[in-house]
Amino acid sequence: MAKIITVASQKGGVGKTTTVVNLAHGLALKGKSVVVVDLDSQGQAAVALGVDQSSGIFSALVGGSSINQVIRGTGRKDLWLVPGDKRTATAQLVIQAEGRDIFEALREAFVTPWNGKPDYVIFDTAPSVGGLQEAALALAHLAIIPAALDHLALFGVTGVLETLVTLARTRQWVGNLLIQPTFFDETTRESRRNLEELQHNLTQLLQGAELPLLTPIHRATRLREAAAEAQTIFEFEPEGRSAAEYAALVWRVLEEVQ
Ligand SMILES: Nc1ncnc2c1ncn2[C@@H]1O[C@H](COP(=O)(O)OP(=O)(O)OP(=O)(O)O)[C@@H](O)[C@H]1O
Ligand SMILES: [Mg+2]
Repeated sequence: MAKIITVASQKGGVGKTTTVVNLAHGLALKGKSVVVVDLDSQGQAAVALGVDQSSGIFSALVGGSSINQVIRGTGRKDLWLVPGDKRTATAQLVIQAEGRDIFEALREAFVTPWNGKPDYVIFDTAPSVGGLQEAALALAHLAIIPAALDHLALFGVTGVLETLVTLARTRQWVGNLLIQPTFFDETTRESRRNLEELQHNLTQLLQGAELPLLTPIHRATRLREAAAEAQTIFEFEPEGRSAAEYAALVWRVLEEVQ
């Protein structure tokens, strides 16, 4: 059965989509088959992978399309995408108006239809909590929360943590959790202080549980440039520091969910 990974934060611009596409391609390069499902109505996963945006999410959730009709190749071995666009936001409203359960709708569209393949389904999500984001977290074997160290990093993380606590109670969620610091710049005091504060606050919030905090990913112009060229960092600069940092995440995910 495919393992489900959901990347979420209620804060915008923290590196969700960057993490999704680089993790996905990194896993594909390790021989795993991966489908990215873009639940954000900004449709940026398609842009980052050089695939045309489409209403694939809308069609699969409320238009009656099968997964085979909405899935797209990315030109990369073992890596596929279900693109989204602004109609994704409408899909959520239609599901609610029809009185359907958004969790069941998401599961039927993107989790149950697979026949053995793929190894991983990775959900990219919009910067908010509730709705499709919450449903994608409920389905996740692994939740990854990027935390940008250029601002108060905890903001963006807490809403997702609270959602996971609620899901553990209401949906018996038993997935794993990783927090991925991003935009790290060790030359600024702010970045180091934000990392320390994140560590401190998480220790208090998670009370004794092992801290699921990963090694930070540095702020790097190369990541922005790669996205602008519709390339992953493994294509754009495979020998660079950012590729090594995302490769570390790939290894950790392979350990975490097999
Ligand atoms: N570590 C990094 N260093 C520098 N730039 C980065 C880094 N990670 C992402 N970026 C760039 O920052 C911008 C925002 O990143 P990204 O789109 O991944 O964030 P997001 O959380 O998905 O945003 P949104 O909430 O709008 O979906 C993009 O232009 C991306 O290329
Ligand atoms: Mg995004």
